[in-house]
Amino acid sequence: MSSSFLQSIERGRAAVGPSLLSADFTRLAEELRAVEKAGADFHHLDVMDGHFVPNITFGPMVVKAISGVASIPLVTHLMISDPARYASEFVRAGSDVVSFHYEAVADGHLDIIRAIHGEGSAAGLAINPDTPFGSVSHLLGEVDLLLIMTVFPGFGGQKFIAAVLDKIMEACSARDQGGHSFLIEVDGGITPDNAGSVRKAGGECLVAGTAIYRSGDYAAAIRAIRG
Ligand code: DX5
Ligand code: ZN
Repeated sequence: MSSSFLQSIERGRAAVGPSLLSADFTRLAEELRAVEKAGADFHHLDVMDGHFVPNITFGPMVVKAISGVASIPLVTHLMISDPARYASEFVRAGSDVVSFHYEAVADGHLDIIRAIHGEGSAAGLAINPDTPFGSVSHLLGEVDLLLIMTVFPGFGGQKFIAAVLDKIMEACSARDQGGHSFLIEVDGGITPDNAGSVRKAGGECLVAGTAIYRSGDYAAAIRAIRG
């Protein structure tokens, strides 16, 4: 398995990744630099295709441009219907981790994970709030990261679904019992107020869009989410 990203994450200390979705897109490079300076551990890049989710964001060209200016890892979250076709492009565009949704394809998950690894990045699997943890247990030995969604994907600024905390705990104990090493990333509606419950449940990489980019003080928001 690959990845400078995995090495960059200190076990036992929560890593915080601002979701670019809530940044000012007219000043992308400045925004990226500002959150880096404020202590961000990685950039979370939300790719939406208008088909898997009812919203469209950006593609590999923009990820490539970002990789030219970013100095922390790029963790790409593909919310697209055909990850088998496009995942490799996002690795070549400079992603350190490429995650795709379990729900996006009926089968062939392992082939996609292997394709991502083959291109040289870490591979993540994302699950929606209503997807039971058990659906992905057979793939956990193969992935570097499990992305547990605490909102239904598609838009920033939604309300955190607290019922998903149980699934984070379940993932944590299954990892220990199975001797796996995947990181647990949690994404959706995270704020300084609920971040403590996410960390306590076992979340290690915490994503926040609104709570960071729409705050007046990026450093304070990142510190509060990291705890
Ligand atoms: C939702 C995205 C999230 C989201 C996070 O579809 O995957 O990354 O933008 O934004 P907030 O923190 O505003 O929920
Ligand atoms: Zn995301």
